[in-house]
Amino acid sequence: MQTNPRASFMAAVAASLARHGIAASTVDLNWHAPNATAINNLTQVVGGSGVYGFIYNSSATPEGQYGVYNWCNMPHVRAIEYKKPSPEYKLQYVEVIHRHHKRTVYASNSFPVESYGWNCDDEGLFYYGQPNAGKKSAHAYWQGYLSPQNPFIPSGFLGSCQFPQITAEGLDDSWQHGRDLYGVYHDLVGFLPDNANEKVTFRVTQNVITSEVAGMVINGMFGTEADYPLLIQPSGVDSLEPTYTCSISSNLFSAIKSGTNWTNHLTAASPLYSALDNISGVSPSDSGFHASFDHYYDNLSARQCHAKPLPCKLVNGVNSTTCITQDYANEVYRLGNYEYSYIYRDDPRSLAASATSYGVWIGELTTHIRDFVAGKSNVIYRHNVAHDGSLSRLLSVLQLDVMIWPGMGSEVVFELYKKEASTTGIPSPSSTPATSASGYYIRVLWKGQVLRSSNPSLGLMDMVPLETVLAYFDGLVGIGASLVQGKCNGMIAV
Ligand SMILES: *[C@@H]1O[C@H](CO)[C@@H](O)[C@H](O)[C@H]1NC(C)=O
Ligand SMILES: *[C@@H]1O[C@H](CO)[C@@H](O)[C@H](O)[C@H]1NC(C)=O
Ligand SMILES: *[C@@H]1O[C@H](CO)[C@@H](O)[C@H](O)[C@H]1NC(C)=O
Ligand SMILES: *[C@@H]1O[C@H](CO)[C@@H](O)[C@H](O)[C@H]1NC(C)=O
Ligand SMILES: *[C@@H]1O[C@H](CO)[C@@H](O)[C@H](O)[C@H]1NC(C)=O
Ligand SMILES: *[C@@H]1O[C@H](CO)[C@@H](O)[C@H](O)[C@H]1NC(C)=O
Ligand SMILES: *[C@@H]1O[C@H](CO)[C@@H](O)[C@H](O)[C@H]1NC(C)=O
Repeated sequence: MQTNPRASFMAAVAASLARHGIAASTVDLNWHAPNATAINNLTQVVGGSGVYGFIYNSSATPEGQYGVYNWCNMPHVRAIEYKKPSPEYKLQYVEVIHRHHKRTVYASNSFPVESYGWNCDDEGLFYYGQPNAGKKSAHAYWQGYLSPQNPFIPSGFLGSCQFPQITAEGLDDSWQHGRDLYGVYHDLVGFLPDNANEKVTFRVTQNVITSEVAGMVINGMFGTEADYPLLIQPSGVDSLEPTYTCSISSNLFSAIKSGTNWTNHLTAASPLYSALDNISGVSPSDSGFHASFDHYYDNLSARQCHAKPLPCKLVNGVNSTTCITQDYANEVYRLGNYEYSYIYRDDPRSLAASATSYGVWIGELTTHIRDFVAGKSNVIYRHNVAHDGSLSRLLSVLQLDVMIWPGMGSEVVFELYKKEASTTGIPSPSSTPATSASGYYIRVLWKGQVLRSSNPSLGLMDMVPLETVLAYFDGLVGIGASLVQGKCNGMIAV
């Protein structure tokens, strides 16, 4: 009888778990509070000043400050900072997920009437179909324009951009992101192939801005301008964005965003809301702008990342001297980070809300790793271009110690290593006390540095035995996401 490689691998993992006494049931599946910092302390958020040294006004982080939060262009893996593990750890498989790069605002986050326009004539958004065999297509792209004869004025920014689209600068950041990853995983550690062959795959969501990023990343990595497939799941069930239906998760997130603690922060911020509404013309009863700081945050940060001024109040269609100040913007940014910490980490229900709505992607990740280890797949590198909602849920499941709003390009990297028997007998400085019987270890990088989880089973995720990581993910979402549908529809308790 033919042996099923996955079954035999699972048997090996199970045996190793038994031998080492870390049975799945002893891996801690509980929520653990994040660190108490200024970011999740409402008193400091409302009464404070500045934004913790975070950058909001340029994609360029000054040399020497790399690693600092930059909303416009978050730090990611690059050769200068990359820490190579000790040589007995051999890199086997890498999966990268990151948020798209900087963009224009979403139309829904625009003020009713904007005091200036936003044009994107410095780039083309290519959009065409072409049969694989047969006639060719021109490289057709969209040229936005406003018709002088069309009396219907769109809400928000006027101009030739799509709202949203990745801006020309955001495309440059995307290319550099790809170049930096290649600088590490090809040039520095000799892991990636020279060409984008069948060992690598790229995946996007139904939101076209992720495809805009992916094309630039692929050229930044492999220098190719050739046709290249981007994996995409169907609309409405995609696990990467995610968009599949998960009522239990939606209910939990709604409960998180309607409790007393949540409304307390909106009440504490009411003077700020009054000032912003007065200047922007947003109605104080506009629920989109007042359910959270999401819209104002996006609205102001997108301008600042593109060196556009903070807006002034329009009186009779003309700029007045009543403007949104940097102090107001900073308070919006502090509140936005507070909200992301609150929704995805501080509220104990956040873990179940995220593990259900991101469980399918987690199950795909663990399957990719298992298939690689079992020799069923020769893909060594998977790259996912996603959204802040994707990264937030993933960081929530990983129980990041200090949660923030994942900025543009925010990246998490899963590295799978196999430890070779040391012949020198010199202990590795980075080796953790926990050993893996299978010999496989996982390192997780966030902002280009080792991620620290508040969950004690994961802790500093620097060579955590694969068995532990799989037991944690399997415990929450099931092997290959087998528990997710039941947990999402309420058939299985969360
Ligand atoms: C969070 O707290 C842990 C434990 O005190 C500490 O080791 C870690 O450095 C903290 N994280 C950050 C980002 O400060
Ligand atoms: C929040 O910050 C305030 C002011 O600095 C401090 O008094 C309070 O103890 C902090 N709360 C927590 C939970 O750390
Ligand atoms: C961004 O803001 C910081 C702090 O306010 C300031 O020092 C810096 O000059 C600004 N950079 C740009 C490019 O405007
Ligand atoms: C900000 O919000 C206003 C008001 O809805 C809108 O007109 C404007 O386009 C928004 N700008 C951005 C950058 O979101
Ligand atoms: C609204 O803005 C006007 C200036 O345009 C100012 O005179 C007025 O005090 C502001 N009202 C509030 C509540 O901030
Ligand atoms: C308002 O000021 C901005 C710069 O702050 C300028 O770009 C815009 O053209 C002005 N708009 C109006 C209607 O005066
Ligand atoms: C909600 O507020 C109460 C009282 O301040 C506090 O004890 C509790 O920890 C808060 N819950 C969250 C999720 O922040």
